Amino acid sequence: MKFSYLNPTQIHFGQGQIAAIANSIAKDQKVLVIYGGGSIKHNGVYDQVKEALKEHQWLEFSGVEPNPTKETLDKAVQIAKEQQVDYVLAVGGGSVIDGSKYVVAAALYNGDGWDILTGQYQVNKALPLGAVLTLPATGSESNAGAVITKAETHDKLPFFAAAVQPQFAVMDPDVMKTLPERQLVNGLVDAFVHICEQYLTNPAGAMVQDGYAEALLKNLVTLANDFDQRDNDQWRANLMWTANQALNGLIGAGVTHDWATHMIGHELTALYGVDHGRSLAIIQPSLLRNQLDVKQAKLEQMGKNVFGLTESEDNSEANDLAERTIQEIEAFYHNLEVATQLTEHDSDKATAIDTIIQQLESHQMIALGEHQAITLKESREILELAV
Ligand code: NZQ
Ligand code: ZN
Repeated sequence: MKFSYLNPTQIHFGQGQIAAIANSIAKDQKVLVIYGGGSIKHNGVYDQVKEALKEHQWLEFSGVEPNPTKETLDKAVQIAKEQQVDYVLAVGGGSVIDGSKYVVAAALYNGDGWDILTGQYQVNKALPLGAVLTLPATGSESNAGAVITKAETHDKLPFFAAAVQPQFAVMDPDVMKTLPERQLVNGLVDAFVHICEQYLTNPAGAMVQDGYAEALLKNLVTLANDFDQRDNDQWRANLMWTANQALNGLIGAGVTHDWATHMIGHELTALYGVDHGRSLAIIQPSLLRNQLDVKQAKLEQMGKNVFGLTESEDNSEANDLAERTIQEIEAFYHNLEVATQLTEHDSDKATAIDTIIQQLESHQMIALGEHQAITLKESREILELAV
């Protein structure tokens, strides 16, 4: 095991913490507040941000859509450049925070911001960014990743740059009170798959990463089982903190990652508008079955340590523990009424698969997974299982 680990985002967690923005951004900074379609105007978050920024000079940009597009974000980039903004404050879910990461990077670049996504421009500088999280799911509030869509071509691509990681993140579970049930469920699923992408790979005997990943997975299973308690402060706080820890770098330090479910899922979102979390639930069980040989050891470990399964007494069935674990994962999604088959989203099966494969190819997603063994052939097999 070998790694360097740093998570530089200061977390302000708990009720009333939006006020902490006041002292997290120097008073001489001109701030651009970026938000989405307006949910923050209806739940008091906007008013709290306004109060916290009363001694700052600030302006705003709204209308960042779910699965944020380059087309919309370029308008914010232009404002940041023209108005000589010093600091960006993202107020929203993963889409607003990811979109703001694009803005802080593109604001200091003279070319087309899409160059960041194609890798033509490597981001090494950005405006400073802070985040107020309103939807626990992606972990974007304290990581260096972002996923941006080019609507024109249905491209949805990720980028990573230390320079765009938020300097601070406000995580007040009270903001979740207005979340539609659908988004709460999306968050549970997304966080669950984030952990799996870093855990269900090679057994590395990493006791800290494995043990913490298992604790987080068990939290999500418990929160899903207790879904009827979602109006309770403790339930909300536990989901918010668990989803954050699922993708803040710690459980992934020094271990092999997969991320194939995400890369294939992104194509479903870009082509058919499937919510991010729901795209993962469609792909993951089929991917785990397709990759059973290489994932068997960790699936068995997950079955025992997360779902409390045991080896079968009967030797002839001893090898079905991994399959029973996949069934537990499916049950986790189904209990949340999340579909695990593409056809449940009304897509035309044959056309969908061909189109998804073409998009994967054009995005060079041709050697995915922890062993780069998921070529287009395996992706097609996975999609055929998932329709
Ligand atoms: O736009 P508003 O009006 O704010 O409404 C949003 C949006 O419609 C609404 N919402 C958010 N907080 C709310 C609320 N409604 C009521 N009350 C609140 N408190 O929820 C809707 C969905 O928001 P969105 O930000 O799109 O959801 P999420 O946080 O799930 O983000 C998904 C995006 O993150 C990317 C995904 O690909 C997708 O584009 N990801 C980013 C990652 C990262 N940066 O590390 C990793 C993830 O794997 C993921 O790929
Ligand atoms: Zn995700």
